Amino acid sequence: MTFRELAQKRYSERYYDPRPVEQEKIDQILEAGRAAPTACNYQPQRVYVIQSEEALKKARSMHVSHFNAPLMMLVCYDSQAAWHNPRDRRYENYCSGEQDAAIVATTMMYAAEELGVHTVWLRGFDSFEVAETFGLPEQTVPVMMFSLGYPSPDSKPSPWHFQRTPRDGTVTVL
Ligand SMILES: Cc1cc2nc3c(=O)[nH]c(=O)nc-3n(C[C@H](O)[C@H](O)[C@H](O)COP(=O)(O)O)c2cc1C
Repeated sequence: MTFRELAQKRYSERYYDPRPVEQEKIDQILEAGRAAPTACNYQPQRVYVIQSEEALKKARSMHVSHFNAPLMMLVCYDSQAAWHNPRDRRYENYCSGEQDAAIVATTMMYAAEELGVHTVWLRGFDSFEVAETFGLPEQTVPVMMFSLGYPSPDSKPSPWHFQRTPRDGTVTVL
């Protein structure tokens, strides 16, 4: 499958089979994330694999949709480890951590898709609740969570998946 086909095929999965994701695939997904670019190669991403029953129970207790996926991940960045841009005059000492974490997460999302493991990107959480639930260090900033797993037989994309703004609404050719 080409990357273009993979990108077209992916949709946010909200219907999961309870079957666990094999450790080998989890490792491949994490390795793909490790290959992602980060500013100055500082690699400030901090990835938490929510895999044990205890960790999943904690995640499911939070006010965030999880769709009962058998696996979740939390992608954060360490604000002390991230690159800061002293030359940015609009955003003083601009921190690239959110971008770094988002690229790592995106890379893992497509790596999972290639392995037949579906995902949904989750940001509708309260950062404070996430930090408290998982005991994150003060400088660790939660960026996003994933639910991951195999699709259940009644899996289907949401109507939003088919609604994309025409290219001229989002792209400016200069
Ligand atoms: C930054 C971001 C935050 C999102 N947060 C959530 C979320 O909290 N809950 C959820 O069900 N989906 C969430 N999504 C998934 C989007 O709703 C979904 O990508 C969009 O509707 C397009 O559908 P598709 O992914 O199936 O193509 C999020 C996606 C992104 C990129």
